[in-house]
Amino acid sequence: MKKISAAALLAGILLASCTPKASTVAPIGPAVSSAEQLAQGKTIFENSCGRCHKLPDPTAHTSVQWVGIMNSMAPKAKLTDEQHQWVYDYIVSVKK
Ligand code: HEC
Repeated sequence: MKKISAAALLAGILLASCTPKASTVAPIGPAVSSAEQLAQGKTIFENSCGRCHKLPDPTAHTSVQWVGIMNSMAPKAKLTDEQHQWVYDYIVSVKK
């Protein structure tokens, strides 16, 4: 009996660790945000992303590069998954 529950526990841990976290799912393209969310993304970007370095230039990286950059910067800026998405969508919406 103990063996079975240990195996079940292990399976649970493995399953949980295989479940993708929302923050690591790559948002590709200007997908879902409404104009209001883009405006919020802009505000969050301007308030949060210039604290540790100069405010980055949204046009300096491709939308694909921004996925990786946002995955490392959103935790630094303590963004929620929603804010992460809005800021990302704002950044790629700036592309020329
Ligand atoms: C807590 C400090 C901190 C905050 C807040 C922060 N960053 Fe950064 N950022 C860093 C550091 C440190 C580096 C350089 C080292 C690295 O790449 O991890 C960096 C590097 C970068 C780079 C250069 C990466 C490259 O590959 O050239 C970009 C672009 C960037 N940050 C964007 C952002 C954006 C967008 C936000 C807001 C969501 C943000 N950062 C918020 C600390 C921060």
